[in-house]
Amino acid sequence: MHSKDQICHEDYQRTADWLLSQTQHRPKVAIICGSGLGMLADALKCQDSFKYSDIPGFPQSTVKGHAGRLVFGELKGKTCVCMQGRFHMYEGHSLSKVTFPVRVFKLLGVETLMVTNAAGSLADSYNCGDIMIIRDHINFPGLAGLNPLSGPNDDKFGPRFPPMSGVYDKSLRKMAFDICKSMGVSQYVQEGVYCMVGGPNFESIAEAGLLHKLGVDAVGMSTAPEVLVASHCGMRVFGLSLITNKVVKSYEDNESVSHEAVLEVSKMRSETLQALVTELISRMDIN
Ligand code: 6GU
Repeated sequence: MHSKDQICHEDYQRTADWLLSQTQHRPKVAIICGSGLGMLADALKCQDSFKYSDIPGFPQSTVKGHAGRLVFGELKGKTCVCMQGRFHMYEGHSLSKVTFPVRVFKLLGVETLMVTNAAGSLADSYNCGDIMIIRDHINFPGLAGLNPLSGPNDDKFGPRFPPMSGVYDKSLRKMAFDICKSMGVSQYVQEGVYCMVGGPNFESIAEAGLLHKLGVDAVGMSTAPEVLVASHCGMRVFGLSLITNKVVKSYEDNESVSHEAVLEVSKMRSETLQALVTELISRMDIN
């Protein structure tokens, strides 16, 4: 299921060419919206939107709370493309399917990828509803060899052995902090390490303890593959995790997490998150 299915350069190009023939928009920024965070796409002006099922070559999404549309439009005068709903490994997609849109974005001319996700916190100082600016990630499936870049390297996109240091752009992180300060929301903004696990189950208490010991601040089931592929092809990357729950770390704790609770919290903070991403894009030195 997770083996590399053969997607070649022409497949990405065909999808990109189709999109370029269907919209006048020429985005420099792509945004991938996480669980319950898709309303950013609705805010785009002069929209052209495409259901995933109507886009040649595009994978199909299956999760509740992920609408499955690609939306082109303008945010504060900047042309963007927004994925309303992403693809996850736990849906049974190969990682080349999960990251297919990122390479299509590259071929559309996108230079910056912004990712958002819902995540559980392990850091003791974090609270439910916090926004975490991603400083770095731990890609658990990747460490074990489940990597979208495994298989023959496509040199047209990037090098065989890409570095993974400094992937989350420092100046965008600084800008995000400044914006949070001016928005008066710094009290619930953090910066930390995101860890991707395969899912679909949430962590056992022992697994949570392991991640905590490893220095993970937030855990989720997405983002690392897309970031890896974006970075490989030279895109600038910015990421935000919305902390929708604290991960259960103690056997004394009777709480347990649910997908519904995750969606509830993302609804509560989605406006702030949307305002932050919008302001960040408006301050970026692009078109
Ligand atoms: Cl607690 N774990 C994982 N793996 N993903 C999540 C989460 C927890 N909360 C939201 N997403």
